[in-house]
Amino acid sequence: MSNYVIGKVIGVFGDSIDIALDNYLNDSGVPENMIININTEQGPEPILIGQPGTFLKIQISNGMLLCMVSGIKMKDTTNNSTDSISVDLPNRILTLVPFGTINENNIFEKGSDVLPTINNYVYAVSSKTINTIYSNFSEGNFTLGKLSLMPQQDALINLDSFLSRHGAILGQTGSGKSWTVASFLQKIANLKQSTVVLLDLHGEYKNAFGDYADYIDASSLELPYWLMNCEELLDLMVDKNENAAPNQTALFKTLLQQSKQNHPENQELAIPKINVDTPVYFDFNEILNKFRRLDTEMVEGSRGPKKGDFNGQFSRLLTRIDSKLNDVRYNLIFKPQIYNTSASMSDLFKKILGEEEIPKKIVIIDMSPIPFDVRTSVISLLLRCFFDFCYWYKKINEESYPLAIFCDEAHLYLNEYDSSSKSARLSAERIAKEGRKYGASLTIISQRPREVSATILSQCNTFLCLRITNPDDQSYVKRLLPDSLASITTMFSSLRRGECILLGDSVIMPTRIKIDKPNPTPDSEDTSFYKKWNMPHEEIDIPSVLDAWRKQKA
Ligand SMILES: Nc1ncnc2c1ncn2[C@@H]1O[C@H](COP(=O)(O)OP(=O)(O)OP(=O)(O)O)[C@@H](O)[C@H]1O
Ligand SMILES: [Mg+2]
Repeated sequence: MSNYVIGKVIGVFGDSIDIALDNYLNDSGVPENMIININTEQGPEPILIGQPGTFLKIQISNGMLLCMVSGIKMKDTTNNSTDSISVDLPNRILTLVPFGTINENNIFEKGSDVLPTINNYVYAVSSKTINTIYSNFSEGNFTLGKLSLMPQQDALINLDSFLSRHGAILGQTGSGKSWTVASFLQKIANLKQSTVVLLDLHGEYKNAFGDYADYIDASSLELPYWLMNCEELLDLMVDKNENAAPNQTALFKTLLQQSKQNHPENQELAIPKINVDTPVYFDFNEILNKFRRLDTEMVEGSRGPKKGDFNGQFSRLLTRIDSKLNDVRYNLIFKPQIYNTSASMSDLFKKILGEEEIPKKIVIIDMSPIPFDVRTSVISLLLRCFFDFCYWYKKINEESYPLAIFCDEAHLYLNEYDSSSKSARLSAERIAKEGRKYGASLTIISQRPREVSATILSQCNTFLCLRITNPDDQSYVKRLLPDSLASITTMFSSLRRGECILLGDSVIMPTRIKIDKPNPTPDSEDTSFYKKWNMPHEEIDIPSVLDAWRKQKA
């Protein structure tokens, strides 16, 4: 380890350390241009000191404390000493965030028991040291790009930690989230196999992956009602504020149970006890017809016909459910054409998990063609199905089925405040809380972290933060991070497009990364107004746009 002294500690504050740089003198200190040369086996290595995101180390009792620079300032102090000599001391002060210790045996460990004290020496860190630290930590050779400030150094990350303990990719619009996702998944696709489901809200990813991805247009994906559990079905039909709600719920449960049990196909499945949540086919119309009959039933009374016990109890429920049944947008749930037998469930799962005859490593589910209110029902059902599948896979195989779900634009359907996204949010929260044990992983991608379910974000252990300039968003993300990393959030606004700071379990230390460009890129290019408006005018085909809009089909 080369030890080039650049300055000393002048302040220690629990989660940050201030150091003052020494003036350059022979082989120590830092010249005004902030570049020093340290001796390495390969010869002198120039190092730029003070750039936020670069590394320094500080002498402590049991080795070296590795720190990242989070800020730099210049302080002019005039020293009016008693000898009446007045000296100007331009102090170059760096603020550092400590994050690990290099012990006497050159082994890096996250965290530190000891902090330095005033006047401890501060040293420059060679790229070789950084390389050794990264290589020792990563699982395999998985990288997302290069270190921004050491472009020759791969930013190795631990994929297992990123996925198994859930991750979040955050950044303002246009900061590069979709490109990062594409680049990330393209690297995953280099592995021999994978099961990744990507919820694509804008239809951006269709061409971002080659043959190794399956593209499913959600409007053609049937997710039949009979896959819903009893609670989800009740949510669709019963208004809990209605007086008749308890009657409706009780009767629905009885009828549902009977309908599932009596369906001839189900009787052959040899299920010892079918209950209201068993995912088997049942005939919805059969139940609704029963409701209709009871709702208008007249019975014989002592003074002629009178209203039956349930007469009028189901009118509102029937109106509510009829409005959904008659809405063609809900056909993919209520009028399944393909998946309308219990046996067909296996084909559906093969499709959504990319496990058909030709296995696919990534399944893109394009949600853009379906309207918002249907979208949350579909996502909720999908997420619950994924969780239940992983749960039961582990139960029978005693090992997990690793499944990674990437939720792009998560604030739209895993929203903390929007009641219409409640069902999807609850399904996702369950994966965030319990998924790790069964191999189900969630990656949240959002430009509005403040609106995403706090339960989900607080379960994420890796944060890939792209450019965030809004101070409210910055302070929100700051609150999600451990105290020791909070001061790094000040760097979020200085990031370039496609550049991020990766923090948390999956990286050995907070890392500023230039994400590799995806190839091919997703379909999310900015519009060039200037270029377009500098071209001669062409007549546009307005009817074709309106036609597609009306038919909801491009
Ligand atoms: N790694 C990168 N390298 C170079 N350019 C990039 C990179 N990432 C993103 N860009 C540029 O930024 C543009 C916007 O990126 P992207 O679509 O990923 O943003 P986003 O964060 O997903 O935005 P939104 O929140 O609106 O979906 C891209 O079209 C591309 O030009
Ligand atoms: Mg995007």
